[in-house]
Amino acid sequence: MTERLFLKQNEVSDFDSYKFPALKRALDMDKKDIIEELKKSGLRGRGGAGFPTGLKWELALKEKAGEKYIICNGDEGEPGTFKDRYLLENSPLKVLEGILIGAYTIGAHQGYIYIRGEYALPINIFRQVIKEAKKRGILGNRVMGSDYSFDLKLIKGAGAYVCGDETSLINSIEGKRGTSRIKPPYPTRQGLFNKPTVVNNVETLAAAAEIILQGADKYGSMGTEQSRGTKLVCLSGDICNPGVYEVEFGTMTIKELIDTFGGGVKCSSGLKFVIPGGISTSVLKDDELDIPYTYEDIEKKGSSLGSGAVVVVSEDHYLPDLMLNVSRFFMDETCGTCFPCREGNRRVHLLLKNKISDGRFDRDEKKLISDIGRAIHLAARCGLGQTSLNFVTSVLNKFEDELMVGRD
Ligand code: NAI
Repeated sequence: MTERLFLKQNEVSDFDSYKFPALKRALDMDKKDIIEELKKSGLRGRGGAGFPTGLKWELALKEKAGEKYIICNGDEGEPGTFKDRYLLENSPLKVLEGILIGAYTIGAHQGYIYIRGEYALPINIFRQVIKEAKKRGILGNRVMGSDYSFDLKLIKGAGAYVCGDETSLINSIEGKRGTSRIKPPYPTRQGLFNKPTVVNNVETLAAAAEIILQGADKYGSMGTEQSRGTKLVCLSGDICNPGVYEVEFGTMTIKELIDTFGGGVKCSSGLKFVIPGGISTSVLKDDELDIPYTYEDIEKKGSSLGSGAVVVVSEDHYLPDLMLNVSRFFMDETCGTCFPCREGNRRVHLLLKNKISDGRFDRDEKKLISDIGRAIHLAARCGLGQTSLNFVTSVLNKFEDELMVGRD
């Protein structure tokens, strides 16, 4: 089930009824005005990091290079995140429209949509969409009868979490191994084939199209100062009604999201904690959930809104099992390029494996895990590595009573 506030009108995948109204408007606008509109709306990247979209487009527009690229990042690999899949399946034309508006604004004539390999249906849908869009003059020479030309290629991911990181994704499109690059330079200066490149998440591009259609004032009037508009939230875990829901920032607390949209915790044992933004974010305990669902309120609690994956965990679970499971994921998925992430995740995983039967940690072990977590946070190359130990360290900190031996 999906509640919709902002993306509701154009939930279509039918070329006969969808007329690309936002694209039509954008093609008549000055590029700088499109950017101003986005800046005014306050739209922030919905992949997880929340970087201002208008600013990203502006940086790419300012680059003098002849060739530029836009990439739609649909390599949604964060466990608990499935909102991009929802959009790709239900509003592919809105996503395409967002890609075209972004491309036109920055001056790109070639773009890519990179969809994770496991998403068979979205891949098929988008393949058809591209074919049909070419037939109907939405892609190719003279987009919608204008002077602008743009081509879009679909790339199917091969199952690597790290390719959700924009620089690994760029390497992957170039035919290289999917490993991260050092930033800066940011892709807006030196991205795909070393040319200025904008990489935007699927939801960001769909929202950008909606903003151009409905106006920045409308979008910007929703939410709070730092978290404007709406967000697609993925509710999963021990919850009665898992699914994708659209929420206006600041209008509901995390607890209300879980109880109202999610129908409450599924298990009678009650709620243990919530992962507020996917498994790369720190957990929040029951008494930390009465906060508005906004970037800033979650950050104040030491966590992050991330990609919008709210995972509910009940008392039914054995904590060391969860920690081991998450750490196995990161150990397997590290690209192996940078030492802190590769060795740090392996080391923590082995330690957790040894602890699985008694589930108790001593002070030295806790210190080691938190030192490794800090080192990774400071020194890993990419955001995916930097956040890889947030879950384990936050569980260890917040459930000390259950997990530590010899506390004084
Ligand atoms: P980041 O903060 O390095 O960058 C965010 C975006 O802003 C990037 O596109 C980057 O190029 C751009 N940017 C930042 N500073 C810039 C500057 N000075 N000039 C030009 N561009 C600039 O974060 P990153 O590493 O891209 O993403 C990390 C986040 O990804 C994590 O916080 C996590 O929540 C999220 N994530 C999402 C997943 C998903 O499946 N959606 C999977 C795993 C992590």
